[in-house]
Amino acid sequence: MRKFLTRSLAVSAVALLALSSAACGDSERDGDSGTGAPAKGFAADSLIGVALPSKTSENWVLAGDLFTNGLKDAGFKSDVQYAGASTTVADQQAQISAMVTKGAKVIVIGATDAAQLSTQVKAAHDAGIKVVAYDRLITNTPDVDYYIAFDNFKVGQLQGQALLDGMKAKKATGPWTVELFSGSPDDNNAGVFFNGAMDVLKPLIDKGDVIVGSGQKDVKQTAIQGWKAEGAQQRMDSLLTSTYTAGKTLDGVLSPNDTLARAIITSVKAAGKPIPVVTGQDSEVESVKSIMAGEQYSTINKDTRKLVAETITMVKALQAGNEPTINDTKSYNNGVKVVPSYLLPPVIVTKANAAEAYANDPKLSPLTK
Ligand code: BGC
Repeated sequence: MRKFLTRSLAVSAVALLALSSAACGDSERDGDSGTGAPAKGFAADSLIGVALPSKTSENWVLAGDLFTNGLKDAGFKSDVQYAGASTTVADQQAQISAMVTKGAKVIVIGATDAAQLSTQVKAAHDAGIKVVAYDRLITNTPDVDYYIAFDNFKVGQLQGQALLDGMKAKKATGPWTVELFSGSPDDNNAGVFFNGAMDVLKPLIDKGDVIVGSGQKDVKQTAIQGWKAEGAQQRMDSLLTSTYTAGKTLDGVLSPNDTLARAIITSVKAAGKPIPVVTGQDSEVESVKSIMAGEQYSTINKDTRKLVAETITMVKALQAGNEPTINDTKSYNNGVKVVPSYLLPPVIVTKANAAEAYANDPKLSPLTK
């Protein structure tokens, strides 16, 4: 859910942030008031909790290791947990509650279900713990201090634009026939990606230049529960049988991430049909290979190394009693408030710019040679 609030509201949010930094004078910034008890901030070897969702894509696997090592290098103790594969919500709720009990000073959360954590984050706040929403916003609660992510609305816009660019490169003029997929409904990002993509695609759908073959345009009809590959493959299988028999061509598929993109391509191949333009996200190894082989059309680079490093920078600022760097105070409304955000720019990657995009990534760069 991304809403653009009025200018006055945005301005007052900035003013509030400025006030809270101003209130924190230099003597307090070092985290030690001279009495032994940190006035603001907290001890440099404190416990930092990191609650991640289940491992639904490579970025989450990577994030866990990066947090464990990065927090250790920064001198903190860490407790990094993943929600299990099936009872994700209950797992994550219990993990966050345990972090509160153990006395964490900051809890970084990649929410498994955006709307189901209000009780736990309130308990964290009541205990004086800072709550940072990581990659996925936590909704319907005042108890989120910061949001740190690649700009996920922008991710959706880039995906919508890539879909159009890819289809135009194959067939210069429309109408183009597409199918739309979105992520798990409990992940707030799923709607953000979809809205971003529709921001680009809807005007063309309204004009008739882009046709959704099945007519399934609503986010609810396109959702894939749990971001599961098998769910995407099944939905694609049924779309192919319901809509793409009798020689009807499918030009493109909006896929919100790489896991689903590969499942969609598997389905199309199994049906013996030509591969349409398929978008993705996450720069997963198998998808980068697929892009280089000319199958998947695009992915998004949201470099997890950068996002984790910036999150640890934020934790360090909080430790020192400083206000962390925020670069957006208007875009991400969680239903209760606009959450002060630090947003990084996502990068669209196709075969054309893969070598350049992954030049600094030792894992992906060799795949582009
Ligand atoms: C992340 C994506 C990821 C998806 C599934 C989203 O919240 O932003 O990068 O593909 O979760 O794991």
